[in-house]
Amino acid sequence: MINAIRFVILSNSAATAEDLHAALKSSGRSRVLERCENADQMYTDVLRLQPTAAIIALGANAEDELSLVKRLSTAAPDTFLITAAENASPALVMSSMRAGAREFLQLPVNAEELSTVLLRVEEFAGERKVEQKKHGRVVGVFSCKGGAGVSFVATNLAAVMDAPTLLVDLNLQAGDLDSFIAKTPSHTIADLVKNRQRLDDALLGSLVTPYSEKLALLAAPLEAYEADDITPDHIFEIIHFLRSRYENIVMDLQHTFDPITIAALDQVDAMLLVMTLDIPGIRNTKRALRIFDRIGYSHDKIKIVVNRYSKKTDVELKHVESHLGESLIGFILNDYVSVMESINMGRPLVSSEPGSKIAVELRRIADALSGYGAPPAAQPRKGLLRSLFSRGASLELNASIDKA
Ligand SMILES: Nc1ncnc2c1ncn2[C@@H]1O[C@H](COP(=O)(O)OP(=O)(O)OP(=O)(O)O)[C@@H](O)[C@H]1O
Ligand SMILES: [Mg+2]
Repeated sequence: MINAIRFVILSNSAATAEDLHAALKSSGRSRVLERCENADQMYTDVLRLQPTAAIIALGANAEDELSLVKRLSTAAPDTFLITAAENASPALVMSSMRAGAREFLQLPVNAEELSTVLLRVEEFAGERKVEQKKHGRVVGVFSCKGGAGVSFVATNLAAVMDAPTLLVDLNLQAGDLDSFIAKTPSHTIADLVKNRQRLDDALLGSLVTPYSEKLALLAAPLEAYEADDITPDHIFEIIHFLRSRYENIVMDLQHTFDPITIAALDQVDAMLLVMTLDIPGIRNTKRALRIFDRIGYSHDKIKIVVNRYSKKTDVELKHVESHLGESLIGFILNDYVSVMESINMGRPLVSSEPGSKIAVELRRIADALSGYGAPPAAQPRKGLLRSLFSRGASLELNASIDKA
């Protein structure tokens, strides 16, 4: 079965689940990925597994299941929803359709009826494939070491992106991105998580903090204790939802490999590692790369940028690159006055000083990450770099890098 229809089934009766499973199996065209016993498990599994279709067996009081159908029809528009029940009264069929189900199966399953429904699922899946599916790009900005400039870089990258972008503050205990854009959020990620099962565009719009036409912030909880209720599964669910609503999602991540950060990192398309060119910075970056390796992240999605790049840094970049086993794709200059001014004003530098070297470099990095621009290369900087680093002075430091 190369193109089997992938199903998830919900039934609170083991016998019904067994019957449905057997009928799908004997159709020869389907594969059951998961059998769920309650609505919450089904909701999470459908978002996680993204099956072609889901069968929801309605209980005696169908209210819970119909509300699940309603939530799924918004959150998982690519999954074909089928309700099933022994009672096929016109009222029940109508309520199912109104909730968002596309088909209704009478139980016990009749092979001929099932075959017609499978045909409809196949047609639907074919149509969805050709439709341009919105699947926003998720960029995680990360550093193993505090103070490397993750928040500054994340905010500016998000501000320079050329499409609707959401900046997400995943420093759940002490996020401060609202101050980077001088906005006071009225709602935060804690509210998004609380309302995740009834999210639509209008509600989402009221929970994010707009900055410009293209950029909005999903702020960190206002009170640290609110973060305690947020689990890695919630993060998985909301990122999945957000990527269907925004072209770009830029996440400012914590500096640790805690479960929330891992749940977010698991979903990134590109990971920007921010590092400073000093021994602790290089050592921490190497450590992060080793951990990414162990977790199994593909090297293709990891990009390293140097922040606070300075003429006074006596490090030979080739040496750093070979030590890390990765190339450095960007160099953001150290400019304390401009950066502090932009942070204090709450205006990203890419907007307040768009012609500055830092802004130009951030735009180039954003273009490279979005896949719109030319692939970045450290090579054209050779001339600049050669003038910045004196080879003799760098030898001792390079020896220390090797030990890092
Ligand atoms: N390119 C730069 N040039 C000069 N100073 C910079 C630059 N980038 C960041 N800084 C300075 O570093 C400080 C820390 O930056 P930022 O808050 O972005 O780092 P972070 O990694 O998010 O830190 P935290 O661990 O607090 O989350 C800023 O207040 C700013 O003064
Ligand atoms: Mg920060």
